Amino acid sequence: MVVSLDGRGPRYAQIIRALIALVERGVLSAGSRAPATRELARDLGCSRNVVLMAYEQLIVEGYFVSREREGTFVARELSPRSPPAGAGGAAAGPSRKAVLSPHGRGVLRAARAAMGIVGCQPGCAVDFVHGLSVPDDRLLRALRRALSKPLRDRAFSYGSAAGDPALREQISLRLRAARGIARPIAQIVLTSGTQQALDICARLLLGQGDRVVVEDPGYEAATAAFRAAGATVLPVPVDRDGLDPARLPAGRRSAKLVYVTPSHQFPTGAVLPAARRYALLAWARRARAYVFEDDYDGEFRFAGQPIPALAGLDPDVVIYCGTFAKSLFPSCRLGYLVLPPALVEPAVRCKWLTDRGSFRLVEGALAELFATGHYDRHVRRMLRRYRARRDTLVRSLRRHLGAEVEIEGSSAGLHLVAWLPALPPARVRDLVAACRERGIGVYPLAAHAARPPKRAALVLGYGVVDVNDIEPGVSKLAAAYRQVRPVGELAALNAQIPAYQE
Ligand SMILES: Cc1ncc(COP(=O)(O)O)c(C=O)c1O
Repeated sequence: MVVSLDGRGPRYAQIIRALIALVERGVLSAGSRAPATRELARDLGCSRNVVLMAYEQLIVEGYFVSREREGTFVARELSPRSPPAGAGGAAAGPSRKAVLSPHGRGVLRAARAAMGIVGCQPGCAVDFVHGLSVPDDRLLRALRRALSKPLRDRAFSYGSAAGDPALREQISLRLRAARGIARPIAQIVLTSGTQQALDICARLLLGQGDRVVVEDPGYEAATAAFRAAGATVLPVPVDRDGLDPARLPAGRRSAKLVYVTPSHQFPTGAVLPAARRYALLAWARRARAYVFEDDYDGEFRFAGQPIPALAGLDPDVVIYCGTFAKSLFPSCRLGYLVLPPALVEPAVRCKWLTDRGSFRLVEGALAELFATGHYDRHVRRMLRRYRARRDTLVRSLRRHLGAEVEIEGSSAGLHLVAWLPALPPARVRDLVAACRERGIGVYPLAAHAARPPKRAALVLGYGVVDVNDIEPGVSKLAAAYRQVRPVGELAALNAQIPAYQE
């Protein structure tokens, strides 16, 4: 019998792999005596101890059994089979196809449709990507210090599934002051960002075929979470004022849930006016539906007073969701739900089931950032920084595109929408490509729409772009635009088409 080693890694691990391969090929048959250790060591030119180490591991893994005074044998239960892909080196064939449940297939379809819609365009010198933000050095220094607090407190065991009480207390204080939401910390549940909050609500509230309303254009990751739960998604067109409650399906129990971004509609940036807010809540009460309020960038409002949250108006109907993805950075994976009282226990138990609670060290560090005032100072600094970038972007768009561009949704958040009325929507793809050739990353609004928009538009983010790069970037964007824009009658005709669905 030839035991040949593959030369990769420690010698004892090579011996283990070689012997397993022999068992799997049936060369070492079930119940047979294992090769004598002394001889094997001699054949392989290694010490007997190395072979003994390998045998010990094979006994632990159940390939070999040791019988007192008799020696070591191949386990009886083992029969020859082809090795698992990757384990046997050269012999490995294509891996087995996944056998998913119908539910699993639905989850896969939903996630495939949403993942990767927006991501940085590698190699772009100026990237107007939206949905991303980076903290400044001052926050990083504060964060380094804050992280040592939960470490000193030795926060290593499981925490409360609802999340760190100190952090929930800090969130509760700010929600009361800034968003008009007065809720005890018992109604606040920390989550791994908005995405997990959506998933928890979808799992708890939606069954196969239940209807859920989303905004169109809207946030594809929310749609994906609802579809993954088996729900039927009804995209309702938004207009300049966001979601129009008059377009919601009629009748009791016509939908179980409505997902909205009332403070800064994603992606158009519309603010839902008071009359629509009340109409939406009245509709939800009639339909016995919940409203999921995604307040993803409420901290960054550049003009006027902060807009009170919907959740402040009807605590029994609105599920409010906040995230630190914008105010800090997306990879902190921390957000929170503020729930109607009846949904608190289901949500906490669902959170426990999902991951037994978020990462305590991050929660603890964030609580410390709040307690020391660093978080609020950071948000104020970032507000100034984003305002400067927003102003530069708006100015540059006006300077380089003049009457060819209509800017919307620039009063808050980290992105705005640039409508290009003279450009046929079908040419947006050419515009994106022409920008890319010039090293500029821009993103079509149509990527977030269920029904293709009638007008061309770009979503331009300024969460990660340097303020000094904005003007040169827009100048190149304008050059790309002139390259793809039609001239004459077609442009004039196109400009007459309204931006929103009638
Ligand atoms: C509409 C909307 N909601 C929420 C988020 C943040 O999601 P998360 O907290 O899961 O990172 C984003 C990020 O881009 C968003 O665009």
